[in-house]
Amino acid sequence: MNPFINTLDQALRTVFAPHHASRPNPAAGVATLQMTDIERKQAGALMRVNHVGEVCAQALYASQALATNNPQLKAHFLAASAEETDHLAWTETRLNDLGARPSLLNPLWYAGAFGLGFIAGKLGGDAVSLGFVVETERQVEAHLQSHLERLPQADLASRAVVSQMKADEAQHAADAQKAGAAPLPKPIPDAMRLAAKVMTTIAHRI
Ligand SMILES: [Fe+2]
Ligand SMILES: [Fe+2]
Repeated sequence: MNPFINTLDQALRTVFAPHHASRPNPAAGVATLQMTDIERKQAGALMRVNHVGEVCAQALYASQALATNNPQLKAHFLAASAEETDHLAWTETRLNDLGARPSLLNPLWYAGAFGLGFIAGKLGGDAVSLGFVVETERQVEAHLQSHLERLPQADLASRAVVSQMKADEAQHAADAQKAGAAPLPKPIPDAMRLAAKVMTTIAHRI
């Protein structure tokens, strides 16, 4: 397929189509405890933020796969993106179960993350592109840890999903490191943290 059409097709499917996980949902079989309306709303907002993170992960990996001319690295990015699809499916299911909706701005988050990933891949080259993955996955891991502290204690299902995602993101960072990631110049991780802060603050509500 023409790469442009393929990219557009992937973007539309990420943002608008339901997803299917290839691994069992960590929330399956987890006991459901009673939650207050406030707890349920809080859990829904946090899981919406996590769902946005996974939409962005799809965009980042897709853009970096497109940016590289190295077939091995392309395969690495596409394999990682397939694993992130599990996260997308699990957070989607959790949003539904909590009666919460995904972010209305998902097309915008996807486009932003895609642009950043593509620029990192094209301007920086493969090692920087992998460095960008390492830094992103580490920041996401830290962010998921903060959610484990903020999710209602009773929401065992969301906690199970977030815990598994956190373990996977750590593995993704390690994989990218092993594939030859270069450290990013100093201001970039800080700028990424700032961009993530803006995204999470808005996605908590919208
Ligand atoms: Fe993920
Ligand atoms: Fe990841």
